[in-house]
Amino acid sequence: MKLTVVGTGYVGLVTGACFAEMGNDVLCIDVDADKIARLGRGEIPIYEPGLEEIVRRNVAQGRLHFGTDVHEGVRFGTMQFIAVGTPPDEDGSADMRHVLAAARAIGEHMTDYKCVIDKSTVPVGTADAVREEIARTLAARGVTVPYTVVSNPEFLKEGAAVEDFMRPDRIVVGVDDERARFLMQALYAPFQRQRDKLVLMDVRSAELTKYAANAMLATRISFMNEMALLAEKLGADIEQVRRGIGSDPRIGAQFLYAGCGYGGSCFPKDVKALLHAAAGAGEPLQVLSAVERANERQKRVLVDRVVQRFGENLSGYTFALWGLAFKPDTDDLREAPSRVVVAELAARGARIVAHDPEAMAGARRLFGALPAVHFADTPMQALEGADALVIVTEWKAYRSPDFERMRVLLRQPVVVDGRNLFDPWLMRDAGFEYLPIGRRTGDAPATLPLALAA
Ligand SMILES: NC(=O)c1ccc[n+]([C@@H]2O[C@H](COP(=O)([O-])OP(=O)(O)OC[C@H]3O[C@@H](n4cnc5c(N)ncnc54)[C@H](O)[C@@H]3O)[C@@H](O)[C@H]2O)c1
Repeated sequence: MKLTVVGTGYVGLVTGACFAEMGNDVLCIDVDADKIARLGRGEIPIYEPGLEEIVRRNVAQGRLHFGTDVHEGVRFGTMQFIAVGTPPDEDGSADMRHVLAAARAIGEHMTDYKCVIDKSTVPVGTADAVREEIARTLAARGVTVPYTVVSNPEFLKEGAAVEDFMRPDRIVVGVDDERARFLMQALYAPFQRQRDKLVLMDVRSAELTKYAANAMLATRISFMNEMALLAEKLGADIEQVRRGIGSDPRIGAQFLYAGCGYGGSCFPKDVKALLHAAAGAGEPLQVLSAVERANERQKRVLVDRVVQRFGENLSGYTFALWGLAFKPDTDDLREAPSRVVVAELAARGARIVAHDPEAMAGARRLFGALPAVHFADTPMQALEGADALVIVTEWKAYRSPDFERMRVLLRQPVVVDGRNLFDPWLMRDAGFEYLPIGRRTGDAPATLPLALAA
């Protein structure tokens, strides 16, 4: 099939590349000429495991193309995927400007049937707004051209986006038109050879499904984060609680890790947008507003720990920071908890030496103007002369470090761990003052081997 993907960001590029991989002919367009020029030179503007190979292969085999020409984009694909950004507006609602601009462009240039697919995360009612925008534009041109608007929200996870797209758990399609249903079924057939993964529903339900999914996941995270803080107060260990509840199939083991708050380009903005939409509909979401408040508090938990340990005035102190991206396996810094940590430590006069395996270029652009922020080439280099290590992102490369070396490099052997990477008792044995989230750090547990407990 011939597809156009409008918006070549994390979602658009992965969507375009994966559809091309299945043999479709795909044109990805973007208003960002620089991004398209880089892609034209074979440079991948984002870090996403497996993406580079798949883009290279499909470009080389002539199935994946990039451009900035909107007219060409509309002419090219029968299927027009809208995968532009939907950032939060000032009031928290989703900003639909880019989605409606894409719809307008389709209406301005289409001359034959188009199946327009909302892949961006958009509030309930957006498909109607897109349909109206195209209708208005066609009317202004004085022409009638058939089209359908479909909702096909994306559930990929950054860091595993290619894998998620190629082997989805489910494919949600909101459609109320036979022709579009047939096209969507045909397009997604190669992704579900083993079992049927298509969850067909009406358009509004599909739009709400995406927000409900992200809101549920954010809720699990905030719930566990609050449990972790409570566990600390009560002398319990959140890791043991996690294993205890995660083994219940009604609860499940995923998304139960306590940490220093959720971030990224989706959860924070989608939670805000859903809260805004619910309030507007006269049905305010009490649980979700508490989830958001809990997360705001949790993003400050590492700073609070540093302040408790070193005092309000941090001038003269240096902190090593491991992990800047909002989660491992991505270079995405949008709403990352590291941003709060860096800003708050710097505001208190601290010097920060940060490391991240993939997000350094973005971090230099983001924090480069702050004289207190420095960057290290390796995790160990960040520790040299630091008064404490603060771990913000759980990259695999941080999970089994050389503890001996760490202790030698750090000026004070203090580790503030926002991702609970290490065993508290082993850390204590190794001579560290270890400050994780919700872990029991007191006496060794009775089950520990005597040699370790000694
Ligand atoms: N990033 C994720 O993990 C993820 C997962 C699922 C859903 N989503 C949703 O998908 C959407 C896109 O997210 P993203 O992370 O890919 O965003 P992004 O910011 O990485 O990419 C959006 C791209 O759209 C381009 N664009 C904006 N207006 C345009 C226009 N009129 N024509 C052509 N291009 C235009 C921008 O230049 C940018 O390159 C959002 O609604 C997001 O909530 C994101």
